[in-house]
Amino acid sequence: MQRSVVIFVLAFSAAAWALDNGLMRTPPMGWLAWERFRCDTDCLNDPDNCISEHLFMEMADRLSEDGWRELGYVYINIDDCWSSMQRDSQGRLQPDPKRFPRGIAHLAQYVHDRGLKLGIYGDMGTHTCGGYPGTTLDKIETDAQTFADWGVDMLKLDGCYSNSSYQEQGYPMMSKALNATGRPIAYSCSWPAYQGGLPPKVNYTLLGQICNLWRNYDDIQDSWDSVMSIVDWFFDNQDVLQPAAGPGQWNDPDMLIIGDFGLSLDQSRAQMALWAIMAAPLFMSNDLRTISSDARAILQNKIAIGINQDRLGIQGRRLIKEKNGIEVFWRPLAKGSSALVFLSRRSDMPYPYKTSLKELSYKTGVYEVYDVFSEKLLPQMKDSTEFVVSINPSGAVMWYVNPVAEWWKEAEPGRFSEKLIGPKFHQHHNEVDAPLVL
Ligand code: GLA
Repeated sequence: MQRSVVIFVLAFSAAAWALDNGLMRTPPMGWLAWERFRCDTDCLNDPDNCISEHLFMEMADRLSEDGWRELGYVYINIDDCWSSMQRDSQGRLQPDPKRFPRGIAHLAQYVHDRGLKLGIYGDMGTHTCGGYPGTTLDKIETDAQTFADWGVDMLKLDGCYSNSSYQEQGYPMMSKALNATGRPIAYSCSWPAYQGGLPPKVNYTLLGQICNLWRNYDDIQDSWDSVMSIVDWFFDNQDVLQPAAGPGQWNDPDMLIIGDFGLSLDQSRAQMALWAIMAAPLFMSNDLRTISSDARAILQNKIAIGINQDRLGIQGRRLIKEKNGIEVFWRPLAKGSSALVFLSRRSDMPYPYKTSLKELSYKTGVYEVYDVFSEKLLPQMKDSTEFVVSINPSGAVMWYVNPVAEWWKEAEPGRFSEKLIGPKFHQHHNEVDAPLVL
């Protein structure tokens, strides 16, 4: 009797608090308007780039017609500045009538018809960061229901014009309210970013129970400096952040800016590689109508995506930060596979970094290594084999590493790596003891 009471209480409290929506077992992927299109509401002078249903419909067309959806980029997310400055007569949020004349439900239908999902933006406070109506505590249920009625699939809840006690009440309340609508709506919480991102102010156990993902830190901007400051913060705090992530609950270092103006090709590869290592949500914020083929190739790299989407959902770590500006990152993947990233913070010339898998804490054995961006299989190597990897200035090399024994034993049809790399993996069997120059 006593035992069943305990079970009942536990079950009840879980039902009351957990974000029990089963969504985002791997990091979400899609497109988000903010970094590239900001709060451009000037549809008169800038009709193709202003925040309007036209922009989201065009991006939905691109996601569904240019091979993005099949790779997993399925969310198309509205950010700030979509709403009218006033709520309607029943106190509900409403879109700006000029820019979204057919309403959000119509846009959601358009997006769903293309096999995509629609995200929307709100703010746990009096106003959004852009000054539009926020969600005060008394409006939480109304707004959750409005989003569900429209057919929205994801909510990013920002935290401007708010304070810590308000957020402490509001973010869990919204989680419950979304669940109560009965519609599966993924929930992105900006709460930790407004509380410094670290304990004791931030409780990652609670966040994992109420949110599917959360912004921990500053907004990304269109520059390499911005990418590097985010990377530094996330890996400097990896002991706190890494255990917080897992299936259904992700740290969010913010959008991918690949395809915009601020990153070189090498820097773009580095962002993709590091976001894959971090098990980060992959929300692109770029113009898919005009994206270059180079940027597209990076964002559509199947092995990088496969690493990001690994089903174990273990966030990777920085292993080494050398004084010479080279850093090494590692992420364990399903079936004994792993990913390595060699990053150069240097600004001179390609740097020959010499090491071995053993030095990077790999177990004794023989490994097959696939270079993710050059799309080349390297000669097999032992853990003890010394190699030299050449890393471009402000660039990264990413490796997908498989232990040979396990590879042969456990290869199964449909496994992404085998399907994509196929017979090429079986071509090289020459173990090499001399240092390899790759
Ligand atoms: C904050 C968020 C950004 C974006 C803007 C919109 O700065 O962190 O991601 O949503 O607000 O105003």
